[in-house]
Amino acid sequence: QSNQFCDAGVGYPESTCGFSSSSSSKLLIKGGTVLNAHQQEVADVYVEDGIIVAVKPNIKVDEDVTLLDATGKYVMPGGIDPHTHLAMEFMGTETIDDFFSGQAAALAGGTTKHIDFVIPVNGSLVTGFEAYKKKAKKSCMNYGFHMAITKWDESVSREMEIMVKEKGINSFKFFMAYKGSLMISDELLLQGLERCKSLGALAMVHAENGDAVFEGQKRMIDLGITGPEGHALSRPPVLEGEATARAIRLAKFVNTPLYVVHVMSIDAMEEIARARKSGQKVIGEPVVSGLVLNDSGLWDPDFVTAAKYVMSPPIRESGHDKALQAALSTGVLQLVGTDHCTFNSTQKAFGIDDFRKIPNGVNGIEERMHLVWDTMVESGQISVTDFVRITSTECARIFNIYPRKGAILVGSDADIIIFNPNSSFEISASMHHSRTDTNVYDGRKGKGKVEVTIVGGRVVWQDNELKVVPGSGKYIEMPPFSYLFNGIDKADAKYLSSLQAPVKRYFTAS
Ligand code: URP
Ligand code: ZN
Ligand code: ZN
Ligand code: ZN
Repeated sequence: QSNQFCDAGVGYPESTCGFSSSSSSKLLIKGGTVLNAHQQEVADVYVEDGIIVAVKPNIKVDEDVTLLDATGKYVMPGGIDPHTHLAMEFMGTETIDDFFSGQAAALAGGTTKHIDFVIPVNGSLVTGFEAYKKKAKKSCMNYGFHMAITKWDESVSREMEIMVKEKGINSFKFFMAYKGSLMISDELLLQGLERCKSLGALAMVHAENGDAVFEGQKRMIDLGITGPEGHALSRPPVLEGEATARAIRLAKFVNTPLYVVHVMSIDAMEEIARARKSGQKVIGEPVVSGLVLNDSGLWDPDFVTAAKYVMSPPIRESGHDKALQAALSTGVLQLVGTDHCTFNSTQKAFGIDDFRKIPNGVNGIEERMHLVWDTMVESGQISVTDFVRITSTECARIFNIYPRKGAILVGSDADIIIFNPNSSFEISASMHHSRTDTNVYDGRKGKGKVEVTIVGGRVVWQDNELKVVPGSGKYIEMPPFSYLFNGIDKADAKYLSSLQAPVKRYFTAS
């Protein structure tokens, strides 16, 4: 059997792929329980040309329509992963999953869209964007971009506007860590926050105190601790809490919404909880590794095993995981990402003598949906509709593409999964679809299984087989001024009028 992507020479294993040329542009998913964030109902879902055109019981169709039986199963929006790094040059190497292998893995795990981080080239956002568009040419699913801001000048400020108004980017990430490479100063963060606000773009932060991390690393090396455990010891939760608090306060000062990526500790989570309680618009994104793992793997005497868990902020000791789950279940944290950023054992071995040289990052793009279901729904912490909210809908709302994405509604894009709650999943490094040779979730089993993935109305995952074509993916532009910006202008007006009284007093006194 010939198939397109093996013939395209992208190096995907023969046994896990195939290409069906007989896929119809009309699709009927019959008899399932349709899950949206706002409700669940037993209904059929009818799709034409990549769009959902009907959601109701007992839809009758012609013979040329492809039928999928979903009786006893859930039919829900495909997952949206807000945080990935595919083909990213980082720490002297490049992530092993590119826009094809990473996306193939995502589709096998029920994720149909991801948002990746463009890294500027020599400080230029436009050049960085073009480079990522090129990397993404081999895409086979929906993708969008955030943009990192790594320096500040007039041209960066101007290019931010180009990104928002012409390129479909509505979020910018500021790294408060990685001193000497991506890290920015408070001064830059403030300017960035102001600029984001004026453009209606969401400011995102990697919140760790990079100066203190640098000191912490020296401290470990001086003590002779050079192994992977030194990574976690050098950047404890207090440094994540401090940076999270600082970013939150600066965002409050500017009066603009803030999105904290990869919330890994109780310390950071509590800062977000406090800010939200006071009414500040702060979004907290836990990632799968922080929700379901603890730091025990980092202490494994085998370097390859320990190094695969190295990411920043670090995976914390037991207790943080459960607290993050609870925060997610109560709405203190809003959506789940992966920070999928994979390096193989050879790349991780760059740091065999010095943990500071271990490329930071773990896998998760394929495992997120299953692990979140098993950890959150099967444990009774959240409902099935909450599952849809935290894996898809909330992400679509925050990045302003709802209800085109993140919903099974008439008019929405047909990015759909069929999920069997009575089946089971098992994760292994030898069976996963990522190119990396290790998996931080190796050996995990649980309830529930993504049996079918549909992207843009095309069945791409069924019977444990991928049918993906490089180049079939779609870039999804994301417009500015999401719901998070509602009321910002009123709060500004209130602030200005509150200045009137003291200013008047000052002038009458002098
Ligand atoms: O260790 C991590 N998280 N690697 C990816 C880059 C980042 O900080 O998100
Ligand atoms: Zn093949
Ligand atoms: Zn980060
Ligand atoms: Zn990341």
